[in-house]
This record gives sequence, structure tokens and C-alpha cells, in this order.
Amino acid sequence: MKGLLDQPVTTWLTGATSGIGHDLARELAAAGHRVIVTGRRQQALEELVACSPQHIISAAADTTNPQDLASIGELLDNHGPVQLAILNAGTCEYLEVAEFRSSVIEANITTNVIGTARCVETVLPALRKARNQGLPAALVIVSSSAWWFPFGRAEGYGASKAALTYFAHALRADLAAEGIDVVVVSPGFVKTPLTDRNDFPMPFLVSSSDAARRIVRGLARGHNEIHFPKRFTWTLKLLAALPQGLQDRLAASMARKSNTRQETLDEQ
Ligand SMILES: NC(=O)c1ccc[n+]([C@@H]2O[C@H](COP(=O)([O-])OP(=O)(O)OC[C@H]3O[C@@H](n4cnc5c(N)ncnc54)[C@H](OP(=O)(O)O)[C@@H]3O)[C@@H](O)[C@H]2O)c1
Repeated sequence: MKGLLDQPVTTWLTGATSGIGHDLARELAAAGHRVIVTGRRQQALEELVACSPQHIISAAADTTNPQDLASIGELLDNHGPVQLAILNAGTCEYLEVAEFRSSVIEANITTNVIGTARCVETVLPALRKARNQGLPAALVIVSSSAWWFPFGRAEGYGASKAALTYFAHALRADLAAEGIDVVVVSPGFVKTPLTDRNDFPMPFLVSSSDAARRIVRGLARGHNEIHFPKRFTWTLKLLAALPQGLQDRLAASMARKSNTRQETLDEQ
């Protein structure tokens, strides 16, 4: 929604204790916005508040836990109007197909899909309240570009982000009549604790501060699809447009190389 960030707004931001969310909180606070920050790690939230006590408010919660979120709902009510929610909390767990465990799929889906849906349930009343006061409001869902191509080991993560993106697009259709925008953010590789664990090459890796700046710029311009870095996301879009058979051969060859590299590392 263009113009939303022209005036100081109150934002609820999840996944603020590290990586992209941490830098987003700082970026928004530096621009004069009030940010209610959520994550499970209390200490990290307190450190974030200390960076900008006038603008950042701590609201610890596990976003998969309905009891935690009930108290966040009350807090949002007390700090209203909340015009922006950035649902960024997420996890990435890879599947080792030789030891197939459905719990890996479940962990990705629980945090990335169910947790986000619970956050939507928590914040929608606050966004509706803002709309009833004639204010612009938007819901931002941080997905990923990873699911645009079938990467080996990403069965759980990719499936969760594909589901999350569908969820966001359908929600966009349903909330359009209420004037609540739904924005989907689809980053490529960003250097954060989540990707620091990756043992494979990450082309066009960007810093988390760069990612935060790109997200805020996209929101300020009123974009409802934000993806970056373009060199990476356009390459993925091109790959995804190939005939399925070609995609499958390419994906299998990449998965073989990655597994060989992993076996070599394991032997060292
Ligand atoms: N890094 C990338 O390359 C990349 C690319 C595409 C998309 N993304 C997406 O960007 C988002 C942020 O990722 P990141 O790279 O910045 O990772 P990160 O540094 O690991 O941050 C993840 C954040 O999510 C929070 N979180 C995870 N599970 C939670 C839960 N159950 N309850 C509350 N908070 C929870 C963590 O906080 P606590 O541990 O304190 O709870 C942390 O603040 C994720 O949705 C990720 O999928 C990242």
C-alpha cells in the first residue's frame, strides 16, 4: 500500500531476534516507526530494545503457541492502531533422504505455515481496527523464492513456503474488500544464522541489512510482491519456466552433486 510508511506507523514484526527480522526492526525504528518485536529469545529482544528504546517494544512469544499469542493480541490492542504486520518468523530444516523423517517436514510446516496462520489470527483484529479508523493497513508475509525450483533436501522447507505463498495470495483476494493489503516477500539467499548452516554454494548472497533495506523500500513503494536479489530470482523464474522433464533432470543433477559434496565433507 503506497504511502503507508510516509507517516510513523506501529508495526508488529515476528522473527526479530536475528537475521532479516533483526535488521528490519532497526531499519523501521531508524525511520521513526514504532516496532513491536517478537521472538522466543528474551535476551535478544532486550538487546534490540536497547538499540532504540523509544521505538522498539519487546513482546516475546513462540509463534506456534496459541497461549503466547493470546497475550500478544492484548498487547497489540494496547499499542494500537497497528497498521503493519510483518510475519517473518521461520525455520529451515533440510531432509536427508537416506534417513527419511516426516518430522522434518512437520517442523517446517508447523513454524512456517501454522505459526504464520496463528499470527494472522492474532493481528487481524488490530489491522481491521486501523482500517475502521480510516487508516491504511497491510500484512506482510515473508516467504522465500526457494520453492520456485525443486531443490534437493528442501522438501520440507520448499513445501512450507509454497503453502505459505498460496495462503498469502488467497488471503490477499479475501482481504481486498476490506482494504488490507497482503504483501509477499520472496528473498533469495540472505546471510543470516539460518543460512550460516548451509554447506553448499549460495549464489548472489546478500547481507541481512541489505535485505531489510530492500523490503522497506518495496513496502514504501507500495509493491505487493517483493523479491530480491533480482539476478537470482529472475534466474529461478526462468528455470521454473522450463519444461518439467528438463527441470527434473537439472534438479536431480544438482542434488547428486550436493550429496557427493556432503559425503566428501562427512569423510573428512
Ligand atoms: N536467510 C535466507 O536466505 C532466507 C531466504 C528466503 C527466506 N527467508 C525467510 O526469512 C525469514 C527470516 O529468516 P532469517 O534468515 O532471518 O533466519 P534467522 O536469523 O534464523 O531468524 C529466524 C527468526 O525467526 C524466529 N523464530 C523461529 N521460530 C520461531 C517460533 N516458533 N516462534 C517465534 N519466533 C520464531 C527466530 O527467533 P527465536 O529463535 O528467538 O524464536 C528468529 O528471530 C524466515 O521466514 C526465512 O524462511 C530467509
